Amino acid sequence: MANDYTVKDINLAAYGRKELNIAETEMPGLMSLREEYGTEKPLKGARIVGSLHMTIQTAVLIETLVDLGADVRWASCNIFSTQDHAAAAIAEAGVPVFAIKGQTLEEHWDYLDKSFMFPEGCNMILDDGGDATLYVLLGARAEAGEDIIPVPTSEEEEVIKKQIAKRMKESPGWFTKTRDAIKGVSEETTTGVHRLYELQRNGQLPFPAINVNDSVTKSKFDNKYGCKESLVDGIRRATDTMMAGKVAVVMGYGDVGKGSAASLRGAGARVKVTEIDPICALQAAMDGFEVVRLEDVVDTADIFITTTGNKDVIRIEHMREMKDMAIVGNIGHFDNEIQVAALKNHKWTNIKEQVDMIEMPNGNRLILLSEGRLLNLGNATGHPSFVMSASFTNQVLAQMELWNNTDAYKNDVYILPKHLDEKVARLHLDRIGVKLSTLDPEQAAYIGVKPEGPFKPEHYRY
Ligand code: NAI
Repeated sequence: MANDYTVKDINLAAYGRKELNIAETEMPGLMSLREEYGTEKPLKGARIVGSLHMTIQTAVLIETLVDLGADVRWASCNIFSTQDHAAAAIAEAGVPVFAIKGQTLEEHWDYLDKSFMFPEGCNMILDDGGDATLYVLLGARAEAGEDIIPVPTSEEEEVIKKQIAKRMKESPGWFTKTRDAIKGVSEETTTGVHRLYELQRNGQLPFPAINVNDSVTKSKFDNKYGCKESLVDGIRRATDTMMAGKVAVVMGYGDVGKGSAASLRGAGARVKVTEIDPICALQAAMDGFEVVRLEDVVDTADIFITTTGNKDVIRIEHMREMKDMAIVGNIGHFDNEIQVAALKNHKWTNIKEQVDMIEMPNGNRLILLSEGRLLNLGNATGHPSFVMSASFTNQVLAQMELWNNTDAYKNDVYILPKHLDEKVARLHLDRIGVKLSTLDPEQAAYIGVKPEGPFKPEHYRY
């Protein structure tokens, strides 16, 4: 189909292609999968719907899936995260992509719907945050006359319902048919994985899922080292504020929180952490961060970053207490970590794209980044290619596994086996000059492993 895409400007394709070519040099995992499987085409017949930030790095992922034989259609999983030149390059290469930086919520769900429209129907999902999976499952429930399961924000719920109603009217039975045709989903992030386990617990997961997030080479790298680079990048591009000497509060000290706190500390900020989990709180303290309650620092800190994947972490009563020109942002998956909706009736001044100044009733102003959506992708360009290569190599392996060994999986959530996790890491060593030591057979026997791995038991936590 000609022009089967929605991008901001197709003329950005040449620029996108140049950056894509550079990214390839930083994504050794994906490039070696192309080398290993490019001829065999293990994804032949797979029709993959991707719902994941349409960035340059994702473009390299898409072209890897295509190189391995898949048909792919793509939407972004966030309204602010698309890099328009990346989308243009992918569209020009002939992959249908529907993503524009700054698209509305209505467009977001319409574009997701469009990404499902393979002439022969889709049979695989590659998800980030679970929107693509949610869309099909909610629609199928609606077709069965059942209640729909909760969605992230009420504002979004209305939009999703409308989009589902539209699809049901245009193609009766489409959701159920699509749900039944899907062989599996691979899920990128912590929040999406939570949703999948919840579906599994409730017996509502209709196809197998691979939790890519909990590959060690994903969450212990992308969530941590990725945010370590991209959080401060986002704050700087948005505000140009001096970070050294400022007091920053990071809410949550999981993988993203650890990377975020390190990012701010690296920029010279004095960082405090809030946690609800005693283990993570103790980790933060022993990493040298003061662990505090938000209430106790809300009127003295300069920068507030949520990293929890939870909701209502920064509430309106907190924002009312903040200093004039405090910076507020979120790097967790959904925008409900900050009660942005409660600010809607305040005076907003747009400073530039994804940066707003909001006047509070006491006259203090807040700088809100990306309307509370993940700021490292909204205000900057997300994580660097190298770390995304590790994440996306897991994604491709998960797609290959689900597509080729469908019958080996029940409708449960799985994690890739450790030997593949180690393989992903191994593929990234040469690029940064890592020289790995090897075990001799006696040493291997002594610690109870094979010389070629896996090197750790399942319970090992890294
Ligand atoms: P995690 O589960 O490792 O960490 C979240 C931490 O927040 C936990 O330690 C939890 O105890 C804590 N927490 C929960 N509620 C809290 C509250 N009310 N106050 C203080 N702490 C609280 O999850 P992870 O992997 O760090 O992911 C966090 C979020 O970031 C998820 O939504 C995930 O999808 C997203 N994410 C975003 C990325 C990005 O590039 N922006 C990259 C990877 C993940």
